[in-house]
Amino acid sequence: MEYFNQHVIITGGSSGIGKAVAKLLAPRGANISLIARDRQKLVNAQREIATASLNSSSKILTIAADVANRQSITAAINKAIATLGTPQLLITSAGIAHPGYFNQIPLEIFEQTMAVNYFGSLYSIKAVLPAMEKEQRGQIVLISSGAALIGIYGYSAYCPSKFALRGLAESLRGELKPKGISITIVYPPDTDTPQLAAENKIKPPETQKITATAKTWSAAAVAEQILRGLEKGNFAIAPGMELTILNRFHSLLTPILNWYFDGIIRKINHKQ
Ligand SMILES: NC(=O)c1ccc[n+]([C@@H]2O[C@H](COP(=O)([O-])OP(=O)(O)OC[C@H]3O[C@@H](n4cnc5c(N)ncnc54)[C@H](OP(=O)(O)O)[C@@H]3O)[C@@H](O)[C@H]2O)c1
Repeated sequence: MEYFNQHVIITGGSSGIGKAVAKLLAPRGANISLIARDRQKLVNAQREIATASLNSSSKILTIAADVANRQSITAAINKAIATLGTPQLLITSAGIAHPGYFNQIPLEIFEQTMAVNYFGSLYSIKAVLPAMEKEQRGQIVLISSGAALIGIYGYSAYCPSKFALRGLAESLRGELKPKGISITIVYPPDTDTPQLAAENKIKPPETQKITATAKTWSAAAVAEQILRGLEKGNFAIAPGMELTILNRFHSLLTPILNWYFDGIIRKINHKQ
């Protein structure tokens, strides 16, 4: 897919994976709308992306909005469309993660995680669809997580929000296809971003040990996999061998992985 002069909207585009995708698309001449809450982070990201695309004609628009607030994200997407036209591509990367023990995580965190990760993506799709449907073209990319393929100890607030995106993508796929619109779901592995750094500070020891079994990717490498998967027209993008296998065989592998993780948890509980 050529993105030259095409409009790309990225929620969560001021940081991490969303920003890394923008840094790959801007040099190809895409016009990009970055949506996130913090204005200063948006301005910094805009500068960084502009530097990464020195010789390109790419326009980069920043809009401060909260994806968990229906009015806020709808107005932001309408503004992006009014300024840069119907998007060829929407990437919903805005997300939060708050690991912890189930009985210690306040209910508000469960609600907020679902509001940002699931409803934030849903509102964004609802806001772009009328324009995409009119032109009978468009691509929607939901950034889910490897934590949507297997429930992980300590992620009882986060995993369900990412599983929900999987259900949304699977059920929307067939409905959007006849309208010329594709949907893709991405299951990133642990990726070196401010979000992961913040999670690492509060993960229970069991979660630390379980997640330490997987390698951490750079945001740039994940972004490259996303664009490669999009070029191939993949419905699901699971970067790396481990997540590729988990994506294909998770129902078969879950009992074996749970047995392995239970061993890790038992060892930690014995030490305490
Ligand atoms: N890093 C990983 O290991 C990893 C692994 C799998 C999946 N993921 C998923 O990848 C996506 C990107 O995460 P990341 O690691 O790149 O995190 P990040 O660097 O912390 O970026 C998160 C982005 O989302 C924005 N955001 C957060 N809450 C928002 C809200 N309510 N409204 C609008 N924007 C909001 C942030 O900006 P503001 O705070 O300024 O709003 C920021 O731009 C997330 O959905 C995450 O769950 C990450």
